[in-house]
Amino acid sequence: TGIPSLSHSTPVSPPVILTQDELKKIAAYKAVEFVESGMVLGLGTGSTAKHAVDRIGELLRQGKLKNIVGIPTSKMTHEQAVSLGIPLSDLNEHPVVDLAIDGADEVDPHLNLVKGRGGSLLREKMVEGACKKFVVIVDESKLVKYLGGSGLAMPVEIIPFCWKFTAKRLQDLFEDAGCSAALRIEKGEPFVTDNGNYIVNLFFKKDIGDLKAASDAILRIAGVVEHGMFLGMATTVIVAGELGVTVKNR
Ligand code: 5RP
Repeated sequence: TGIPSLSHSTPVSPPVILTQDELKKIAAYKAVEFVESGMVLGLGTGSTAKHAVDRIGELLRQGKLKNIVGIPTSKMTHEQAVSLGIPLSDLNEHPVVDLAIDGADEVDPHLNLVKGRGGSLLREKMVEGACKKFVVIVDESKLVKYLGGSGLAMPVEIIPFCWKFTAKRLQDLFEDAGCSAALRIEKGEPFVTDNGNYIVNLFFKKDIGDLKAASDAILRIAGVVEHGMFLGMATTVIVAGELGVTVKNR
């Protein structure tokens, strides 16, 4: 009849669905392509950045990278880097960082970020604010229309003294955006940052609008140490998705 029989048709392989962690690893490996021997590197924190740090360790071990100095953005990353034999330093010794690679919780269309759900936003902001190039690595689930748009937390690091008072001031600041503030709790206890502080998570029902104004207003509250909005800091964002890797430059 000319109609091909189904039993002779070429088998079609099912599409390969990558896990979120595999996408994170793809983005991380792509970012490490920017690393050159002799660089001072900001080493990020989180499950995506961990892949980048592992890869840097691997390239050092293989002799493909030489004379790297890493500046970790958390105690956790410090431990990982030590275990990989990556030589470490700090901003006192190396105030200019050539390149930092780190993950993010949200990325907006202007490459502004929310960071710090791993609780390391202060050290991340210090190290990444001192770098010439800041490469952000994310899987596509992190892309949002506006910061806060994921409905998940925007973290603010605050000092523990009278934390409820500070949390209430933060919540009141964003009343129009339907903000609610909650202390970050882990294992039934307040989460304590590497710097001995607490984290207040802010949740928004609406777009907070002017990010620079929001940033300034948060930082004016006594008791606030730093917030997780990283505005205008990322120079490159590498997004790994099911359809491939996209590199966005500022
Ligand atoms: C930690 C961070 C992380 O980079 C951010 O939370 C993303 O984490 P992950 O790569 O695990 O999704 O800012 O403070």
